[in-house]
Amino acid sequence: MDLFDKFQPLKEAYAALTAGGGDPFGVAFDNILSPTIGLIGDREIVLAGTNNYLGLTFDEAVISAAKNALEKFGTGTTGSRIANGTFGPHRLLEQEMAAHYGMSSALVFTTGYQANLSVVAGLAQKGDQVFIDADCHASIYDACQLSGAEIIRFAHNDPSSLDRRLSRSDSNHSNKLVIVEGLYSMFGDIAPIDEFVEVKNRHKAYLMVDEAHSFGGFGKQGLGVAEDCGVLKEADFLVGTFSKSLAGIGGFAVSDHPDFDLLRVAARAYMFTASSSAASIEVTRAALKIISDRPSLRKNLWENAHRLHAGLKSVGFELMADPSPIVAADLGDPMRAAKAWNVLLQSGVYVNLAIPPGTPNSKSLLRCSVSAAHTSEQIDFIVDCFAKVAQLD
Ligand SMILES: Cc1ncc(COP(=O)(O)O)c(C=O)c1O
Repeated sequence: MDLFDKFQPLKEAYAALTAGGGDPFGVAFDNILSPTIGLIGDREIVLAGTNNYLGLTFDEAVISAAKNALEKFGTGTTGSRIANGTFGPHRLLEQEMAAHYGMSSALVFTTGYQANLSVVAGLAQKGDQVFIDADCHASIYDACQLSGAEIIRFAHNDPSSLDRRLSRSDSNHSNKLVIVEGLYSMFGDIAPIDEFVEVKNRHKAYLMVDEAHSFGGFGKQGLGVAEDCGVLKEADFLVGTFSKSLAGIGGFAVSDHPDFDLLRVAARAYMFTASSSAASIEVTRAALKIISDRPSLRKNLWENAHRLHAGLKSVGFELMADPSPIVAADLGDPMRAAKAWNVLLQSGVYVNLAIPPGTPNSKSLLRCSVSAAHTSEQIDFIVDCFAKVAQLD
């Protein structure tokens, strides 16, 4: 008996996947030249799978904010938010996030993953019920498990399925928390948040929306899909990450609930981990300012999203959703997808390989994320490389 025995099937599947040469889950970039170009050795690779939606990781103001914070606060915080790890920038970012959303409270976490652990497992517990969209991110599933609440899944992006699940439990007196995402990370499809709001209001449930992939790209102010649907104020809790449009590392949650700040002393994933570095927090503050000052970034993002979507369709790919900053092509099976992924990388394009069990409906996908920083030429190059893949068999 060996602790690792259970991983034998995984080991074999991984070996088969990497037999073609590259390792889709072990790519290392030797240098990053810009939000859209990385180097592997001395080969330039167009980056089309980085979630760098607004391309702000190389923005001058963002970089200088990080440098200043490094000089002023040092490299790390060496402590948790409730001990020595809250610096001025953490507090300022919380105030700014709350102001952007027009909410009374904002909390900043070390990652988006921990934001979900903190909010879900902090608020729900044994005796409560959490209703989650079947396609929710692993961090939400983990958070639900950790909470000890009863977990009830409803069909993806289907308010009537949620309605039926809630109806069945209307007579019991538990607290009910509904969890959805704004933009789903694998297929790139968008949630009808306004319809979910209507359902949760009718059943007196709470709603949490994870805007990890939609913050920056949706809504007049870039606050996400809830804003875009006109129901920002009706979502009870909004969660997000700094690791995508906001160009840093960390996570946040905002709410108008008068007791929301109690999570600071109730949520274990907030209390028992070191806080984000001041540099990362200052990066996020600078990016947040740019997102509200420069709506043209969102326009570029969406133009690129439409261009890539139309291009991949024109060369014969079946795409998983209507145009959005995430464009995912269905390759049919994991081995075919891995082969195609290798051809793309050898041709100079990096995308994400997404295969079961990490994908909804056991799909095998080449997943692209578009950036406002991509040029039209880069988008066309990505499409040309996909055209080679289309001719593979
Ligand atoms: C929907 C969703 N929530 C949370 C996270 C976790 O964010 P982070 O990378 O900041 O931990 C992700 C990461 O991709 C995500 O897709």
